[in-house]
Amino acid sequence: MKFEGKRYHSLWYENEKLKIIDQKALPFDFRVVELATSKEIINAIKDMSLRGAPLIGVAAAYATFFAYRESLTKSDSHYYYETVISKLKRSRPTAVNLQWAVNQIDNAIKMGLEIDRILSFVKNIENNEISCCKMIGDNGVLLLKDIYNIKAHKQINILTHCNAGWLATVDYGTASAPVFRARDNEMDIHVWIGETRPRNQGGKLTAWEYFHENIQHTVVADNSVGLLMRKKLVDIVIVGADRIARNGDTANKIGTYLRALAAKDNNVPFYIAAPMSTIDFSIKTGDSIKIEERDENEVRYIGETPIIHELSPVINHAFDITPAELITGFITERGVYKPQDIKRLAL
Ligand code: MRU
Repeated sequence: MKFEGKRYHSLWYENEKLKIIDQKALPFDFRVVELATSKEIINAIKDMSLRGAPLIGVAAAYATFFAYRESLTKSDSHYYYETVISKLKRSRPTAVNLQWAVNQIDNAIKMGLEIDRILSFVKNIENNEISCCKMIGDNGVLLLKDIYNIKAHKQINILTHCNAGWLATVDYGTASAPVFRARDNEMDIHVWIGETRPRNQGGKLTAWEYFHENIQHTVVADNSVGLLMRKKLVDIVIVGADRIARNGDTANKIGTYLRALAAKDNNVPFYIAAPMSTIDFSIKTGDSIKIEERDENEVRYIGETPIIHELSPVINHAFDITPAELITGFITERGVYKPQDIKRLAL
């Protein structure tokens, strides 16, 4: 995707290192950072220099490869490798893409493939993630076209949450992919972006992406989305996902559930855009999804400024679960599916 006229991916492999766009520095500083070791990748996942379920998955695939490459020069290579992998798996617990990607590369390593073949395998995961997002765009834009036709080509208002754009994947994004395709088709679109407290991925990252991609957008306080829907200013909600259970229950950024409830009450279609790698067929319902709890200081402070009395307790849930019955459909690389059809995709 584009920044100041140049095409970028949100990560790439170069000279035996992983290069990433440091998402912590955006929107005010565009910084490319080099990660040379598995430990540096794990730290970047933990401190959210790179984030978003599909991107975490691809970075974790590289981290697994790096851990293996490092282990070849260690006397306790097996112990070293397994210790890093277990830290990596615990670095962010909710996004299933992380576990999925680590297991894929770990299997290739345990099959005894040559190191170059393992690296190609990692690159396949990366390229596959890019194609999936592109196809999510192709499938999702059909929904937008239907709405556009029903509205006789009047502007469509899309509501999104957090950042499920190209920064959160390797390219195109998930929830953003249909938006980019609609822009390419010269449709008149406008996107409402919730700021996404406490880390503000909507205001900081999605708005930055849309500004540079020439997409009309407006950032709103998280709490205004009910009002927007009631005023009939939202035609469709499209958000991303971190883990989807077999019954369609979906974990995504905290606040997603409230948007789904408001959408239901206002008859606004509510879609999840996600690649198949985000579906966890091993769990029946969202009740089994571990919700990450992050440092309370993310809630306590805005920047350096404390906003809560120091003796008041704080809890910082990073994700919530939207029950399947509130979800109109899933936009995947294979097509658009109703929640009850998700389990059949495993076949
Ligand atoms: O905590 P984050 O910023 O990693 O959470 C990101 C989200 O919740 C995204 O919506 C999700 O990962 C999908 S990204 C395509």
